[in-house]
Amino acid sequence: MKDILPDQSARWQRLEQTFRDIVSRYGYGEVRTPLLEATELFVREIGEDTDVVAKEMYSFERHDDKLTVRPEGTAGAARAYVQHNVQAVEPVSRWYYLGPMFRAERPAKGRYRQFHQAGCEIYGDPGPGCDAEMIAMCSEVVRALGVADFVIHVNSIGGGATRARYREALCAYFEPHKDALGEDSRRRLDTNPLRILDSKDPKDRAIAAGAPSVVDVLAPEDAAHFAGLRRILDELRVPYLVDPKLVRGLDYYTRTLFELKIVSGELGAQDALLGGGRYDEMIGHLGGKKPVPAIGFAMGIERVLEVTAGDELGPGPACYFAPLSEAAHGKALGAARDLRRAGLWCEADCRGLSLKAMLRRANSMRASFAAIIGDDELASGEATLKDLGGHGQERVTLAGLAQAVAERVRGRGTAG
Ligand code: HAM
Repeated sequence: MKDILPDQSARWQRLEQTFRDIVSRYGYGEVRTPLLEATELFVREIGEDTDVVAKEMYSFERHDDKLTVRPEGTAGAARAYVQHNVQAVEPVSRWYYLGPMFRAERPAKGRYRQFHQAGCEIYGDPGPGCDAEMIAMCSEVVRALGVADFVIHVNSIGGGATRARYREALCAYFEPHKDALGEDSRRRLDTNPLRILDSKDPKDRAIAAGAPSVVDVLAPEDAAHFAGLRRILDELRVPYLVDPKLVRGLDYYTRTLFELKIVSGELGAQDALLGGGRYDEMIGHLGGKKPVPAIGFAMGIERVLEVTAGDELGPGPACYFAPLSEAAHGKALGAARDLRRAGLWCEADCRGLSLKAMLRRANSMRASFAAIIGDDELASGEATLKDLGGHGQERVTLAGLAQAVAERVRGRGTAG
């Protein structure tokens, strides 16, 4: 878990704003659900046998309630959708969320125990056009965030009938290798063989490499849905890679699965910046009045910030007020207050430092101007306004100081 200090949070805010701007143009509205949900919700929807539920949830009991700090946002959003009977008031709903998620994972690069997701969910649209538009939007979002080198992997794991058939095919394939599999995978052979495919154990992975592919057993209606998705992605000119090995680690998915990975491998094995898929059964499962198809994705904010690190420095303050004696403190603070009222960021330093130390500080903050108020200036009712971009200095009246800074900064269209 990490602290995000103010010098880093500016990057977070810019990322969040870009995400909000783009998804709101697609019609998504923000949902804010509690950080705690009933443990049962995650166990049932994500699946008992997944790593997230079996090993990574922060769960506890209080006053007879079994609660879990959310490991992801999809189940809670779906719970809210059903609880508020949203399907009765609108046929299609588009929701987004931003916030912390918690998984007790083994720490690694790009893998934290408290991490943050920006995610979207659509309820009520079953068609491949919906999937294609969401995947295209994901690519637009990460591009706008400065990620250039990525590949979108897509796959389909079909609906109920396909998955039952695939399960049989996997059992038949893994059974002869049973003794060579790790302990978790041996157990999953009986409970949930699909999960063996995303085992992190290198021995399991070697065996899984030869497993049958789900595309070979897709039911005709699932195959048609997947073909429709690919056709529309082609038409939208969104590059993608069909990846029959993509299964994703959560049990709720049906049909479309996708993951956006960076090419350079900077994140190592955990290189997915975002992942998602369709989950047409969850709303019915949760007791919705009728089944409602759904699809969504979530993007890992830390991971995006890691691969776009080395970004530009943010702008500095418009002005750094440097009073050279206590007698000038009131004038400096007053001018700073006026400049803030004019909408600009500035700071007045009343620590009693030398002029040299104050100018060093102003430069390190990347201030546009320094306003120096010494005894000489006080006596004449003026300040020395120094352009820290190297364009000289001038005297301006104390009464007009804030306005003089505002005019110069605005005229230049920078800082503040
Ligand atoms: P997920 O693949 O578990 O899917 O997580 C989505 C993204 O969250 C990952 O691609 C990754 O960027 C980030 N992430 C996951 N775990 C960590 C971690 N420990 N540290 C840092 N980043 C992490 C879901 O959570 C689904 N709810 C996505 C979804 C929405 N499916 C349908 N709707």
